[in-house]
Amino acid sequence: MKKRVAILISGRGSNMTALIEAAKASDYPAEIALVISNRPEAPGLARARAAGVATAVIDHTAFGDRREAFERALDDKLRNNRINLVCLAGFMRLLTPWFVARWSGRMLNIHPSLLPQFKGLHTHRRALEAGVKRHGATVHFVVPEMDSGPMIVQDSVAVREGDTEATLAARVLELEHRIYPRALRAVAEGRTKS
Ligand code: GRF
Repeated sequence: MKKRVAILISGRGSNMTALIEAAKASDYPAEIALVISNRPEAPGLARARAAGVATAVIDHTAFGDRREAFERALDDKLRNNRINLVCLAGFMRLLTPWFVARWSGRMLNIHPSLLPQFKGLHTHRRALEAGVKRHGATVHFVVPEMDSGPMIVQDSVAVREGDTEATLAARVLELEHRIYPRALRAVAEGRTKS
């Protein structure tokens, strides 16, 4: 039985697309059952629909500062769709310990750095400023602390002479699109424990 996966997005959804593509393979152990965006205007929603994947919008602004009500709506949607695993892919909301605990060991995130280096935003700029030789991306299980939690897959690229934030980001993004499908496969096959 394939695991039923929901992908949570806020924006363009290129990692989402990489997961949808990978899951088309008949031997892939997971199916992308649902894409949820917290932003109605996220470009990724149209990409998901074009790929034939069901989508939903749970607009966090409709909940004001009632963060838990937003997360309860999210949780209901996931449970009503019999979701087994959740992949965060450019989902720009911090999740409360309540929600994280409910999906503990079943929720993955991708972060564009070699964690534990460069948690948070603007990772490519910060990597260039720090003068690191290698930079990369990490897929990890989600824990309450942001951009932390047990690592599932990590890979790196060389930082090149003359790299700008944009060129480095593009090279890391290609890497992200390769490692997220690998990480989801490992989790869906039960080869990784949180
Ligand atoms: C990616 O760089 C991801 O690692 C980070 O946000 C970006 C999302 O890009 N968390 P996309 O929406 O998957 O194209």
